[in-house]
Amino acid sequence: MKNLKQRLSYLLAADESVENRLKKICVLLDQEIPYYNWTGFYFRNGDKEELVLGPYVGAETDHTVIPFGKGICGQVAVSGETFVVPDVYSQDNYLSCSIDTKSEIVVPIFKDGKNIGQIDIDSHTIDPFTDEDTELLEWLCGEVAKVL
Ligand code: SME
Repeated sequence: MKNLKQRLSYLLAADESVENRLKKICVLLDQEIPYYNWTGFYFRNGDKEELVLGPYVGAETDHTVIPFGKGICGQVAVSGETFVVPDVYSQDNYLSCSIDTKSEIVVPIFKDGKNIGQIDIDSHTIDPFTDEDTELLEWLCGEVAKVL
């Protein structure tokens, strides 16, 4: 995990657009962690109460715009808290992206105290996310906020 953090930091510090850096972060996570099967960023659309899809790796999704409160992502936009869903079928307020998705973790990104976006990871495995994932992704979101 330490090595992975170093590699993520290296990508974030690269001299290229934030868009490209975030895309490479998605690619690295997707490659390194077998149960990360869709990895992407959503960001708040200005002052609107909606999220827009940013860089991602994985199947195309219909959910390119998500209103606050809708689905797991929309709930995190409101709560500002990491949301781990071990089994998406147990959630009523869930937006399905792929029939293969079984679980999900969404971690908010704070910039200057404001909840401005999130990283969203879907897995084809039931209940794969541990405290280590939460720790890694919360750390990552803190690092991402620094380059935004
Ligand atoms: N499942 C998410 C929607 C985004 S897709 O998974 C990429 C949700 O319920 O908010």
